[in-house]
Amino acid sequence: MKRENVTHLLATDLDGTLVGEKELTSLLFDYYKERPYNVQLVYVTGRHYASTMELIKEEELPMPSILISDVGTEMYDLNDPELHERWKKTLEEKWNPAEISRIVQSCSGLTPQSIPSVHRLSYFAESDEAVEEVKRKLSGSSVPYKLIFSSGRDVDILPPNAGKGEALSFLLREKGWEKANVLVAGDSGNDRDMITLGYPAVVVGNCQKELKQLPDHPMIFRAQKHCAGGIHEAWEHFFEKTPVKNSI
Ligand code: GLC
Ligand code: MG
Repeated sequence: MKRENVTHLLATDLDGTLVGEKELTSLLFDYYKERPYNVQLVYVTGRHYASTMELIKEEELPMPSILISDVGTEMYDLNDPELHERWKKTLEEKWNPAEISRIVQSCSGLTPQSIPSVHRLSYFAESDEAVEEVKRKLSGSSVPYKLIFSSGRDVDILPPNAGKGEALSFLLREKGWEKANVLVAGDSGNDRDMITLGYPAVVVGNCQKELKQLPDHPMIFRAQKHCAGGIHEAWEHFFEKTPVKNSI
């Protein structure tokens, strides 16, 4: 397949990151229009596909080149439907939802979310203790999994090789975009593994406490501004204050 020459890419979470303060979202896109380069858009969200599409419509967001939905378990590229199949194949090798669900049901304090997703099991947790109990039971079993706790409420249990970080790395590798100027943006726990991939990243000013606790790192910029305002701030910090890298 022909590889696109992508020089700049924004891989961003939606709720609480790109979306949250409407005026700041449109200011960010105005700013991108003024750049002498194109910014490839990748949305990386916890929402499922239909719910993401509703949000895109409601908030009048541009359509991304790629959508990674369901906490990094699904991946959609209109121009390359096979991408989803390749990604799915890697996930399904180590995915045993029946066993995970059985273990979770033996714990108290978790209510299943009503979502159509097939490569994740997601719950609302009543307390931190409820999450600790599930973690203990899962780690005592032999079932492969990855558990992500976000915003003091959402628990996502995924195949061990899924999640926003793994999905984004897979995408960049598949497309040959690893050398582009990538900015990763997020606000909560499910963004953690993509923020710590080693690409320039921003934790927006309104982030949840689990991201406030991230250790400092030169590639992690803590924005003052909220939501898309923080993305704008970080973009200037990483890509406009110093000369941009050569195009690939
Ligand atoms: C979004 C999703 C929810 C998920 C949460 C954390 O809110 O709608 O299903 O649990 O993100 O990843
Ligand atoms: Mg978010």
